[in-house]
Amino acid sequence: MKPLLLKPSSPALLVLALTLAAPAAHATPAEYGEAMFRLATERGCLACHALQAGPRRSDGLPPIAPAWIEIARRYRDDPAASERLTATVMGGSNAAARHWVGKVADVNMPPNAAVVSEREARALVNWILVLVP
Ligand code: HEC
Repeated sequence: MKPLLLKPSSPALLVLALTLAAPAAHATPAEYGEAMFRLATERGCLACHALQAGPRRSDGLPPIAPAWIEIARRYRDDPAASERLTATVMGGSNAAARHWVGKVADVNMPPNAAVVSEREARALVNWILVLVP
């Protein structure tokens, strides 16, 4: 059998990285992604957030909330991000110290503790953080 050589950009390596990051040990990366996207939809996150950074809204205003890809880019190398962002999702963003001023509309993220458990919030955050390898 030929040895399996993986280039750093190899899709197989990405799949491997996503598999290792998945909390559900038996889910394939595709199943994991679908399950998390479904959870985010059910919990109302997508009313404000989008997966990909889109163009401005049709009325010309900036998006309501940062796209998850942008959140991943900003915090993926921050080892404390998972813990901190889970708390932010549960308790809402801090109006006095907004992290996305000028990039998104002038609203705060309200607390989500009524719609997600801490475990779900953590799972969503950990999924978001590895959207960009
Ligand atoms: C009512 C709109 C709204 C909903 C619903 C919402 N968010 Fe947010 N979210 C925002 C806004 C606005 C920000 C940017 C806050 C800031 O500038 O600090 C944000 C920021 C975030 C951040 C980054 C926080 C930071 O400190 O940079 C994460 C992670 C996040 N949201 C996840 C979620 C998840 C998961 C859900 C669903 C459980 C959710 N959001 C639901 C509006 C929303």
